[in-house]
Amino acid sequence: MKNTTIWLDNEQKVCVIDQRYLPHEFRTFDITSVKDAAIAIKDMIVRGAPLIGVTAAYGIYFATLEATPENHEYHIKEAAKELGETRPTAVNLHWAIDEQLKAISQTISIESKRKIALENAQKIALEDVAACKKIGEHGVELIRKISSQKQGAPVNILTHCNAGWLACVDWGTATSPIYHAFLEEIPIHVWVDETRPRNQGANLTAWELQQRSIPHTVIVDNTGGHLMQHGLVDIVITGADRVTRNGDAANKIGTYLKALAAKDNNIPFYVALPTSTIDWSIGDGVKEIPIEERNQDEVRYIQGLCEGEIKSVLLTPPQSPAKNYGFDVTPARLISSFITEKGIHQASEITELQEEVTKL
Ligand code: MRU
Repeated sequence: MKNTTIWLDNEQKVCVIDQRYLPHEFRTFDITSVKDAAIAIKDMIVRGAPLIGVTAAYGIYFATLEATPENHEYHIKEAAKELGETRPTAVNLHWAIDEQLKAISQTISIESKRKIALENAQKIALEDVAACKKIGEHGVELIRKISSQKQGAPVNILTHCNAGWLACVDWGTATSPIYHAFLEEIPIHVWVDETRPRNQGANLTAWELQQRSIPHTVIVDNTGGHLMQHGLVDIVITGADRVTRNGDAANKIGTYLKALAAKDNNIPFYVALPTSTIDWSIGDGVKEIPIEERNQDEVRYIQGLCEGEIKSVLLTPPQSPAKNYGFDVTPARLISSFITEKGIHQASEITELQEEVTKL
């Protein structure tokens, strides 16, 4: 299984899949400067916490290319600031920038900073692939267990937004257990929340699953609770954009409501993430995680294919205002467990991971 959403074309250019046009058009976008990297993140050409981190890491590499021996300290600092301000919620963004700044601070000449920044960006991408693969290896156990109780009937998995390989380099987080189950020939079926307003589920997760011929059905965001009440969901697996040391998880808006419905119906609710998505500095997610607010037009308009062309249409009365919160926080008490590259953990076990992860 090999799907790549970001790759180094040559030492002056990084390419990404332009996610704004999927599933209708496959386009790529070239990143050749700090500015391009910042635009790619801000305009959601790339999106999803781990991929945002990898893109920012390449952004710092471009900062070292753009810098001169005279201005490098200032230029790299400004680049880190520009990249860091692109999106507020996904902590991988700041994590990756900090990893790059730490790595290049160990050397003085601009030439060696360039070399280190490139190697480190590639390392961050590769570690992401490895972490996501491990998440799948751990998470598939949960699906296997449910499958053995269902005697051959498909395991119904519900997921929200896109925490697939488009967002997380190669395997995805929430989708990695799904891909592993499929490769093991465990019968599965995935309920894909469409995920308004940007429809990452309907556009991206459905596209990924369809490419792999994994049985799936797209549902509107309000359907999950009904399905759960009727025994049609066995397990919920979502990704995360930031998890606190207490185990509160920020993920795409609407995730909290799925967790509430899962709790009410006794359905296990798992959050899959690489440990780079944990923000060790904060405890209370509802109070402390910054929630991105995006342009209201993402709510007022909807994009789709019309007579062979991608078009946007207005949904609301032209004068009606809209609010567009990008994420919500699911409190730890609603989460059965977390699936990371290190294993499966209860919220109370997250702090125990810190020492192991931060000393790497
Ligand atoms: O706004 P996005 O598309 O960058 O949102 C991020 C997400 O896709 C989800 O919240 C996802 O589940 C976590 S990222 C793997």
